[in-house]
Amino acid sequence: MHLSSLVAFFAAPLLAASSPVTPSSEIEPRQVYGVTSKYCSTASGNVPSLCFLQYYTSATAPTYRIALPSDATNNAAYDTILQIISPVAQTWVGFAWGGGMTNNPLTVAWPNGNSGQVGRTTPGLYSGATLRTLSTARNSTHWTVEVVCTGCSRWNSQQNGGRLETQSGSASTFAWAISRTAVPQPSNPSGSFPVHNNQGMFSNALDFGKNARATFTQYVQNKRS
Ligand SMILES: *[C@@H]1O[C@H](CO)[C@@H](O)[C@H](O)[C@H]1NC(C)=O
Repeated sequence: MHLSSLVAFFAAPLLAASSPVTPSSEIEPRQVYGVTSKYCSTASGNVPSLCFLQYYTSATAPTYRIALPSDATNNAAYDTILQIISPVAQTWVGFAWGGGMTNNPLTVAWPNGNSGQVGRTTPGLYSGATLRTLSTARNSTHWTVEVVCTGCSRWNSQQNGGRLETQSGSASTFAWAISRTAVPQPSNPSGSFPVHNNQGMFSNALDFGKNARATFTQYVQNKRS
């Protein structure tokens, strides 16, 4: 993985205003081994319970959750849902759907003021994916962003193409990167960046995150409204 290029391409959308270079101290060991599990949300009103493949490393790192329709196949694109639950100390969180930092859809999220956050799939590296925000939240300890992505299940690039693996028991590989440091030179995609970030990868079958198509659709429709 090339974190520097990840950060470079994230820089422009991340920050609207320039900020000074402020190297941070190391957050955690470079590779943190996490735990995958099945997480199901609590139904609320007309928003049904949805189940996610959850990846948790520690209380100081973001938790990632992925959901998809159970009838998804490797042969056709489908929408996916991503939740990022991040400690407030993290200033941005990147999530790579293809397990690498180039040539696959990258989703980035960061706190936005006191009330909400936004997520985006980076331009430049990959433009075939679109994100719609389903929910955002923030309290004294965490910020949360939840997006539905169209185009994150399959991707093509000049170098290679890829997809998530829907077959039961077959692993998909994801990558993540986090920072507590504001990105310097946000208007310069090829500028230098502090490397005191943390990054890692995880692989797991998507089975924990599979939901009946009708449930998945109902969740997306009603959570947005
Ligand atoms: C803040 O939000 C996080 C993420 O949803 C949650 O786990 C935590 O319990 C919340 N803390 C408080 C004090 O509400």
